[in-house]
Amino acid sequence: MIEYKELTKKFGKIDPLSINDYLQQDGYKMIRKAIKMGPKKILNEISLSRITGRGGAGFPVSIKMKSFANETGVKYIICNADEGEPGNFKDRYLMENDPHQIIEGMLISAFSTGASRGFIYIRSEYQNAINIMKHTIKEARKYLFLGENILKTSFSFDIEIRRGAGAYVCGEEFALIESIEGKPGRTRVKPPFPSQKGVFGLPTLINNVETFSNLPFIMRIGGREYNNIGSDFASGTKLISLSGNVKNKGLYEVSYGETIKDVIYILGGGIPNNRQIKMVQLGGACGVVIPQSLLDIQIDNERFHIFDSKIGAGALIVIDDRHDIFDIILRNMEFFEHESCGKCTPCREGHGQMVNLVKKFVNFQATKKDYLSLKSLANVIHETSLCGLGQTSPSSIISTMEFFPEDYEKRIEESVRRGQTNG
Ligand SMILES: Cc1cc2nc3c(=O)[nH]c(=O)nc-3n(C[C@H](O)[C@H](O)[C@H](O)COP(=O)(O)O)c2cc1C
Ligand code: SF4
Repeated sequence: MIEYKELTKKFGKIDPLSINDYLQQDGYKMIRKAIKMGPKKILNEISLSRITGRGGAGFPVSIKMKSFANETGVKYIICNADEGEPGNFKDRYLMENDPHQIIEGMLISAFSTGASRGFIYIRSEYQNAINIMKHTIKEARKYLFLGENILKTSFSFDIEIRRGAGAYVCGEEFALIESIEGKPGRTRVKPPFPSQKGVFGLPTLINNVETFSNLPFIMRIGGREYNNIGSDFASGTKLISLSGNVKNKGLYEVSYGETIKDVIYILGGGIPNNRQIKMVQLGGACGVVIPQSLLDIQIDNERFHIFDSKIGAGALIVIDDRHDIFDIILRNMEFFEHESCGKCTPCREGHGQMVNLVKKFVNFQATKKDYLSLKSLANVIHETSLCGLGQTSPSSIISTMEFFPEDYEKRIEESVRRGQTNG
């Protein structure tokens, strides 16, 4: 069986609204263990685990934590639960099914780095998750896992919920910080990084929901053992949000190194009505689109470098052979045109132009010149945008030009044949 349930193993077995259920499953034992170990040893275990962030960028968690731990004064921890990337729903599942695991992860992080205040930033569409997290924080306070002098030590830490207002860019760390500060969600130029100057100008450590959920697990089995799970390049497990034209859509936890094909065909049960896969989009709307012939690739960020991409937050969107690549690209570009915050020119102006060009392919009005304009525009936006939104949004165009060149050629030929262009 390719599933490796660790972060999801309590799903359906505990009542998420009951702290007693969590305690009965050894809940909050790892923060006790962590307090006995002390910050240095915890950070060493996290370093040995080689865990990378699960929110998209895949940055080594221990590097960020260590640099944050070196900062002094009042410090904040933020759990990024914005989850705006289309196709991803893992953080919602984690919040709705095992919320105390997230709080325990945040406690381990706060204790080892000297932070005393925390936020969980949740997108407002996730009303159920917001209710559950609010209840969970109340319960954790009642049982003295949050607040002053946690477990009768000098360690104090508390958490507030902040809701996002639905902007995709607010998942980006600086836009999220601005949003918490009550400003429009727009990124900032780095450096300084959030760990130096974050929310309200104070050092801030931001990690994803899934990243925090891993910390109790690392404390339990130790960093070395954790590093033995997964592939040569990526340790631990990854939550995969599987959607699209696949029989068993849903959330799956696998160790890094499993192939995309096995996730789709073994866990997902394959494609309904014996159809073929036309393409799979990796990571979400900002991810690359690959053909059936490349599905043997293993899930880990190192291997995805051959696509100049990452597994991101872990969405796999399966699209069968009834679908046209240009329809898919158009939806992606319309989404990014709508979500651009407007701060930098390539992203603000470029998405609308890409939408117009892609529409020509959709409507059989495309010329070779349109193809070249689209290619050049996609590369300019990718290379010159200020934040990750514009840097990654053209991925579906760049990758389909590489992996589906015949679709572009045929569409231009067909446009000429229909007499709607001169080629
Ligand atoms: C446009 C954009 C949207 C993002 N959305 C999210 C998000 O919804 N959730 C998330 O955890 N990270 C998101 N990120 C990544 C964050 O900026 C940041 O890298 C992440 O929260 C760090 O946590 P990690 O190291 O645990 O992955 C986004 C980045 C960009 C550029
Ligand atoms: S890339 Fe787009 S979303 Fe990011 S700062 Fe520029 S305009 Fe805003």
